[in-house]
Amino acid sequence: MTEAHVSVQGETIPTTGPLTTESGAPVADNQNSETAGVGGPVLIQDQSLLEKLAHFNRERIPERVVHARGAGAYGTFTVTADVSRYTRAKFLSQVGKQTETFLRFSTVAGNLGSADTVRDPRGFALKFYTEEGNYDLVGNNTPVFFIKDAIKFPDFIHTQKRDPYTGSQEADNVWDFWGLSPEATHQVTWLFGDRGIPASYRHMNGYGSHTFQWQNAAGEVFWVKYHFKTDQGIKNFTQAEGNRLAGEDPDFHQRDLREAIERGEFPTWTVQVQIMPADEAAHYRFNPFDLTRVWPHEDYPPIEIGKLELNRNPDNVFAEVEQSAFSPAHFVPGIGPSPDKMLQGRLFAYGDAHRYRVGINADHLPVNRPRATVANTYGRDGYAYDGRHGRSKNYEPNSFGGPKETGRPLWGATSVAGDTGNHAAPLHAEDDDFVQAGNLYRLMSEEEKERLIANLAGFIAKVSRDDIAERAINNFRQADSDYGKRLEAAVQALRG
Ligand code: HEM
Repeated sequence: MTEAHVSVQGETIPTTGPLTTESGAPVADNQNSETAGVGGPVLIQDQSLLEKLAHFNRERIPERVVHARGAGAYGTFTVTADVSRYTRAKFLSQVGKQTETFLRFSTVAGNLGSADTVRDPRGFALKFYTEEGNYDLVGNNTPVFFIKDAIKFPDFIHTQKRDPYTGSQEADNVWDFWGLSPEATHQVTWLFGDRGIPASYRHMNGYGSHTFQWQNAAGEVFWVKYHFKTDQGIKNFTQAEGNRLAGEDPDFHQRDLREAIERGEFPTWTVQVQIMPADEAAHYRFNPFDLTRVWPHEDYPPIEIGKLELNRNPDNVFAEVEQSAFSPAHFVPGIGPSPDKMLQGRLFAYGDAHRYRVGINADHLPVNRPRATVANTYGRDGYAYDGRHGRSKNYEPNSFGGPKETGRPLWGATSVAGDTGNHAAPLHAEDDDFVQAGNLYRLMSEEEKERLIANLAGFIAKVSRDDIAERAINNFRQADSDYGKRLEAAVQALRG
């Protein structure tokens, strides 16, 4: 790239002429501000100084309330299997069909400038720019989550972030919440195991985590779970390696991703889905809409449907990564939500976060707007409106040829019964909060178990109150008695 050209979100644009003010007038001096005489006070008429200082003061937008720290890249999704009997989504309609994507990876709890190599789930937020609108799959690198109802999310996140008094993350808060939320035992076992600190964003899997609905052209409904299996192989850091890099090289993951793409080593993921026919959900042994559970692969084997490749770095981190806005409510025809109570809460939370963080026109910024179709809305105006509607009418119905509704819902209906109320998610035959956590523990090799116990004990030992530590340990004991016994001994050894 020569000095006379800039790359702007994939396009090379020539730059001409001198340095200017925001309104395009030439700047005479960008080194010395204007003063009343040599050595005198600065003049208010120095517009380029005032404008420069004012613009600088407004450079930041609020960081994401979670997943503030992250990195992104553009890529391509290619369909490798015919899934048209399960969904009518056009971007999935033909083997070989390609769709442009943007993927943002992140940690959850840390602030914008925090270190990459910490023990935390990783966000895996994927935007498909389809011809029927953008489809966002806002997942993590874990197939399950800590809680199963959106109403608990703000409390959960408060325990992960900074304490209101100390200003730091506190072991007491983390383990108090997890101890009192036994449904977290499965995800906590996952997080403190080997996969809790990925060696890079390239060497980890992604998951849609929730169950989603697919609907085919005949109107039949299926429940699906998405898996993105890394083709680079799973690689992780130990706690000691993660700690060292967090100090020495806090941007490690961000740089690793950018440099790999610059070298032409494009990371890829094999995309799989588990598919459950709708009528099997009611009697499945686990509640299939409970985000703290997986569907064991022997029940619903993952089938390969596509390939995801990341092959282009963003040109501008603020414009394309910081302002990127993903929403689990961004569906396309043939794909919709399940009744998962977490997912239902998320359908509201993200759009609301975008309106606060980026503004009411967030969805029309270059990284967020549809790229294979156009947004045809009667929504208008607001901050940073670009006038995209021109002279067209701003009401509907109208007699001037404006866009009209299709009359066809994006996804299929679900039947409901019973009274409204603050109901817990229903339990199915084999559901409890510990069975899958215990299964995960028993799957681990002896060395993996040792590292898991050491990672957990190192953190629980920092808890100041015995009752909080004991309640936390008791959840692991219920998952597997050996798990609980070893953890208790390891915590005692550290606490002395
Ligand atoms: C009810 C539970 C949840 C709520 C209320 C919630 C809320 C939020 C909010 C407000 C943001 C910031 C959005 C923004 O400012 O752009 C966010 C980011 C994110 N959340 Fe959640 N979240 C929940 C659960 C989950 C779960 C279960 C997952 C994964 C399976 C997840 C994955 C992500 C990811 C990947 C991001 C970052 C998106 C990006 O890169 O911009 N969240 N969440």
